[in-house]
Amino acid sequence: MTKTHANRIAVVTGGGSGIGRAIAQALAEAGAAVAILDANGNAAEDTAGLIAGAGGKAMALTCDVAVFEAVESVGREIAVALGPVDILINNAGISPKHQGQPASVLTMDPAEWQQVLGVNLTGAFHGVRVFGAGMVRRGWGSIVNQSSVAAKTHIEFVGVHYPATKAGLIGLTKHLAGELGPSGINVNALAPGRIDTPLMRGVDPAVNEAIVLDTPMRRLGTPGDVAAAALFLTSEAGHFVTGQVVDVAGGWKLT
Ligand SMILES: NC(=O)c1ccc[n+]([C@@H]2O[C@H](COP(=O)([O-])OP(=O)(O)OC[C@H]3O[C@@H](n4cnc5c(N)ncnc54)[C@H](O)[C@@H]3O)[C@@H](O)[C@H]2O)c1
Repeated sequence: MTKTHANRIAVVTGGGSGIGRAIAQALAEAGAAVAILDANGNAAEDTAGLIAGAGGKAMALTCDVAVFEAVESVGREIAVALGPVDILINNAGISPKHQGQPASVLTMDPAEWQQVLGVNLTGAFHGVRVFGAGMVRRGWGSIVNQSSVAAKTHIEFVGVHYPATKAGLIGLTKHLAGELGPSGINVNALAPGRIDTPLMRGVDPAVNEAIVLDTPMRRLGTPGDVAAAALFLTSEAGHFVTGQVVDVAGGWKLT
């Protein structure tokens, strides 16, 4: 594989599982040194182990992205261990379920609303707040925010907090593309459709079967499908692409 990301230092939040793990692995395979941030430290260690086993460079850090001081603190560790960060993948996300179902807006605990905002949306702000200044100083950076097709339409198996945060990430992306573009930083969002990961396995299999039938490409996505898009957007070849929302959805919920 061409080392399109040689000498790059990347941070992937939520890199301990699913899509984040696949992005971390793809970046490492392309030559980047990758810091894997995850609230589940063991999961982050597992991803780092997989990367090291494949000959790549990675470090694992336990970090709740909803807590600014926690992101600041791992930011200092990464600077010492790897150096200045060039690429930030704001991927950590949650979608709470209750016996496999999302809460209705009519009964949703306001604390659950705040929790989802904290991880999915504020977590991305924290990442940019901690790692953005270094990118600006060096005049190069690349940021990818993990949105969802749920930002743009009604999807029945998530609660209202989830699309609200994913739409918020699109606004964040467009604003940052304008604010940080003059400093050589491209900022884009990915909008995955139904991707086969642990996050999405907690539902009735019939739900996924129905989605496949409603997807022009007639399959669920894989974490690798999303990682391929992230790899392009963070490469030099993709650097002129900014402020965009790239659907990786097999045509599901075309908008
Ligand atoms: N799987 C899909 O179909 C799908 C579709 C659209 C968007 N997404 C988005 O992609 C991202 C990754 O989803 P996934 O399916 O790989 O999920 P996943 O549950 O497999 O992985 C999410 C990871 O984030 C970590 N995490 C959770 N809260 C955290 C926090 N506060 N701080 C740091 N890490 C935290 C988890 O420990 C886990 O390792 C999410 O933002 C999700 O909303 C997923």
